[in-house]
Amino acid sequence: MSTSSPDERTLVLIKPDAVRRGLVGEIISRFERKGLQIDAMVSRSMDAALADEHYSEHVEKPFYPPLKAFMTSGPLVALVLSGDQVIGVVRGMIGATDGRKAAAGTIRGDLALSNRENLVHASDSADSAKREIALWFPDLG
Ligand code: TYD
Ligand code: MG
Repeated sequence: MSTSSPDERTLVLIKPDAVRRGLVGEIISRFERKGLQIDAMVSRSMDAALADEHYSEHVEKPFYPPLKAFMTSGPLVALVLSGDQVIGVVRGMIGATDGRKAAAGTIRGDLALSNRENLVHASDSADSAKREIALWFPDLG
């Protein structure tokens, strides 16, 4: 009998800038080397409706129109990752939102130089992970 709680899950998007720059493998590799598990993965695009739903907390903000244009500008890779405390672990691995301010050693800190085109999205809480996984992977239990 195991006393450990079930692993958490989080939703990650490898954004269109990462696909265009050929950084998908680099980013997935970091998650794999950390010991996280890939439970689901798909390459697809975000349409306007999905963008509004995914970023529902931001739709009224001034930065949303250019963010939406960027996020719908090309294919992205959506993943569900699992592992011990994966939500916080992955947020730590991606770094601060602004790539110019994100710490070295993080994905954004090492590879991004923008506050918008910052390579990766990751759920920021258990509630948002649940909501975002249901949105992107409705078949996942
Ligand atoms: P946010 O949820 O604050 O950041 P994070 O992705 O770190 O959770 O914002 C969502 C995305 O919106 C962010 O990844 C990039 C974009 N964004 C801007 O373009 N300008 C801004 O000023 C902010 C705060 C975010
Ligand atoms: Mg966020």
